[in-house]
Amino acid sequence: MESLNNLFKVLIFIISLNILVVFSYEVDTYDLLMPNVYPHRDELYLCTPIRISPTQNFYIVGFKPNASMHTAHHMLLYGCSEPGSNDSVWSCGEMQSSKVDSMYATSSPCRNGSQIVYAWARDAPSLEMPPDVGFLIGRDSPIKYLVLQVHYMSKFPAGKTDNSGVFLKYTQAVMPRQAGVLLLGTSGVIAPHKVEHMETACTLREDKVIHPFAFRTHTHSLGQQVSGYVVRKSLNGDDWTLIGTKDPQKPQMFYPVLYKDPIGKGDILAARCVMKNDHDYMVKIGSTNQDEMCNFYLMYWVENDTPLDMKYCFSIGPPFYYWNTAPEDFNRIPDIDDNSV
Ligand SMILES: *[C@@H]1O[C@H](CO)[C@@H](O)[C@H](O)[C@H]1NC(C)=O
Ligand SMILES: *[C@@H]1O[C@H](CO)[C@@H](O)[C@H](O)[C@H]1NC(C)=O
Ligand SMILES: *[C@@H]1O[C@H](CO)[C@@H](O)[C@H](O)[C@H]1NC(C)=O
Repeated sequence: MESLNNLFKVLIFIISLNILVVFSYEVDTYDLLMPNVYPHRDELYLCTPIRISPTQNFYIVGFKPNASMHTAHHMLLYGCSEPGSNDSVWSCGEMQSSKVDSMYATSSPCRNGSQIVYAWARDAPSLEMPPDVGFLIGRDSPIKYLVLQVHYMSKFPAGKTDNSGVFLKYTQAVMPRQAGVLLLGTSGVIAPHKVEHMETACTLREDKVIHPFAFRTHTHSLGQQVSGYVVRKSLNGDDWTLIGTKDPQKPQMFYPVLYKDPIGKGDILAARCVMKNDHDYMVKIGSTNQDEMCNFYLMYWVENDTPLDMKYCFSIGPPFYYWNTAPEDFNRIPDIDDNSV
């Protein structure tokens, strides 16, 4: 009896060891925070980098924001093959204007190989990846640097500095599913007293299968609804399936997608922002709070594969680009029934 009991214990031990091996891996945290920066004027974009060890692979499995919407208008985490600057902090906004900053040197977030890994605004909470999913960075990834960008709303009082940023949860255990982000968006203008549709679409040309799991929308104050679709062409007419839709005035966090089925080569990804301009003046897409933005972020995973080479899907927007004149020759373009969702 005693030996049976022992055998049983050994069996339990082996089983629990197996469970440990299969289900648990060590997760560490890296604090990617602004190094006591001083936002010395309104509408300042600042960037700070980390260099990933080029000899090791890491998988990011969670993002915990450390910021407040009273201070930060938004935060973006870029993956770069080369950072925009070798400084520890630089000014990284106002792409359109050539404003010279008096305190920080100016450059873009990435010099080369730019992709969005994470985005935060309006007090969005933490984001955890689904099981077995991680963002690969380091040795076998084009992401050799992570660059944190914070858009500060207004000038700080003298002497007050800031440490906004993100706590990155990461592991060195191999995740069989790599995460990627595709950013759909537009350029363009919104005429005064007009409801405008800002639209974009891109055909997937890579021989890969992506599994969408989260989406995030971003506009400034004129955005009413932002929607993302997958479109499949057929002789009977295009089949538009909603992946996600949101009022961008709600917290701009990553939400679970409405459509989780695989998307592959030949499928078209499309996004539309409905914008309402009540002003007497035209509003353009741009980087300041007075400008607008139209963004739909799609986060997905791929199984035993690398994420898409396509990181961005942008159109020139209104008044030059609409779905009804797009090269994909769409029919059955969806109405704006989006507000009901
Ligand atoms: C960010 O975290 C640090 C400590 O890790 C804290 O001192 C700081 O106040 C936090 N900042 C914000 C904006 O939450
Ligand atoms: C950063 O330094 C490296 C090595 O000195 C150099 O090759 C690179 O061009 C620099 N990058 C920028 C943005 O100045
Ligand atoms: C830019 O980055 C890509 C990888 O994202 C790399 O293949 C390419 O060689 C880089 N180009 C330059 C000029 O460094």
